[in-house]
Amino acid sequence: MRNRFVIGNWKLNGGLAANAVLLDALKAKVLAAPGRYCGVCVPAPYLAQAQALLAGTSLGWGSQDVSRFETGAYTGDFSAGMVAEFGSKYAIVGHSERRSLFGDTDAVVAQKYDQVRKAGLTPVLCVGETLAEREAGETESVVGRQLKAVVDAHGVAVLSGAVLAYEPVWAIGTGKTATPEQAQQVHAYLRGLVAGWDQSVAKQLPIVYGGSVKKSNAAELFAMADIDGGLIGGASLVAEEFLAIWAAL
Ligand code: PGA
Repeated sequence: MRNRFVIGNWKLNGGLAANAVLLDALKAKVLAAPGRYCGVCVPAPYLAQAQALLAGTSLGWGSQDVSRFETGAYTGDFSAGMVAEFGSKYAIVGHSERRSLFGDTDAVVAQKYDQVRKAGLTPVLCVGETLAEREAGETESVVGRQLKAVVDAHGVAVLSGAVLAYEPVWAIGTGKTATPEQAQQVHAYLRGLVAGWDQSVAKQLPIVYGGSVKKSNAAELFAMADIDGGLIGGASLVAEEFLAIWAAL
């Protein structure tokens, strides 16, 4: 049995007062179960708040990015080690918004991934194709390249204990979800790719889907053989939606 996850990605949203309301609502309802994990990736300035409100609950927390460096003169960056100091469990790396808006290349994502692992956090590695790439029949080559960049740099063993997130760029924040079959096809491709490197890592690797997951489509996505949960953007900001998605896991 693979571990299953529902992880919220708040993006650039929140505020102390609103966060407290949301986190209180989530922690009242989310119950831990072995192999089923729920978490929220908050803007880094709110990690202390997440720790204060969620310590001892079933919810994990973490960041949406980290620096590719460990320490030094890198104004504006924060390290994976700093994220870990707040009791965090997760750090997202390679989100398509970081790739497209902030210039994170495959090589940079691989460096960040390594930092996250070294800090003892669970990396949530995002891969996904744009609409143009999908239409050009390049979905598998794009997600394969993005995943391979990490494995080439650090070896396949670094995927054990990680979460891989397939997030088609055309489905993120657009309200356009991949069909369960479309998502399953890519998840199976990714698992097969990892299996070609290491069977046992592939068997254990949770692959979650992200891109306009909501309470109305979560159950059908999560029912697919290779979909082990979701990375949730917009719907993670609404307690009732996020809790319904968690309940569908
Ligand atoms: P969305 O975002 O659920 O708002 O589409 C998902 C993500 O970007 O992680």
